[in-house]
Amino acid sequence: MKITVINGTEIRGVTYRLKEIFLKEIGGAADVSEFYLPKDCPRFCAGCKTCFLKDEHLCKDAEYIQKIEKSLKEADLIVFTSPAYVFHATGAMKAMLDHFGYRWMPHRPAKEFFGKRAVIITQCLGAGAKSSANDIKDSLAWWGISEIKVCRFKLMSDVIWDNIPEKKRSKMTARLSKTADRMRKVDYTKPAHTNLVVKCKFNAVRMMQAGLGKKDPDYTDYKYWKEQGWLDGERPWKRR
Ligand SMILES: Cc1cc2nc3c(=O)[nH]c(=O)nc-3n(C[C@H](O)[C@H](O)[C@H](O)COP(=O)(O)O)c2cc1C
Repeated sequence: MKITVINGTEIRGVTYRLKEIFLKEIGGAADVSEFYLPKDCPRFCAGCKTCFLKDEHLCKDAEYIQKIEKSLKEADLIVFTSPAYVFHATGAMKAMLDHFGYRWMPHRPAKEFFGKRAVIITQCLGAGAKSSANDIKDSLAWWGISEIKVCRFKLMSDVIWDNIPEKKRSKMTARLSKTADRMRKVDYTKPAHTNLVVKCKFNAVRMMQAGLGKKDPDYTDYKYWKEQGWLDGERPWKRR
């Protein structure tokens, strides 16, 4: 089983410890690739729109983005982690997700992401873990991922792991263990179910792309949708 982890912080703190517990619970047999932000994606999207209008490989940061994308595509399970920073995912996580705007469904979603499974782990001291998880979930859902499990925690005590009461740490461990157990039992030879929301979004974009193609047959996103066969009978959630 291949797992790719995108860590929203480089700090070896609470978020890191929660992720480590999850990985330990999922089992030692997993082949894990990890990215730490901002180290592994250190630059902001400049808004040049080259990825949207021409080719993602022409992005000034393609060396970072394509490495992450390859790993995400190859993984059976993808894990995103982030502490809440002022009620949201870390700026480093947002900066990385911005780079993947071209993979949102209205542009050029990757067929590998449909049927993918994801786990999001976020934590905060008092408030913000939910909105932080939603920051990440928004992108994953628009990439075409239906099965997204969220583990979010409120520390309500201290931001240093060793100072968090043992009872609280055990409770968080138990929650992560439950999710890890569920994810370990999944049959990864089969894609995850693609839900109705994702299918509706896909169909709305399909109609939009057909219309855009009539106006400009050279439009990058239209050509991509056409090449995938999605404007005809092919669907990314149907595997041959
Ligand atoms: C810049 C910054 C902003 C934060 N904002 C919030 C917040 O809005 N709400 C909250 O409950 N905790 C907030 N925290 C606490 C973190 O969510 C987190 O609990 C703490 O950084 C420990 O996690 P870590 O060891 O993984 O960094 C913030 C921490 C930092 C450094």
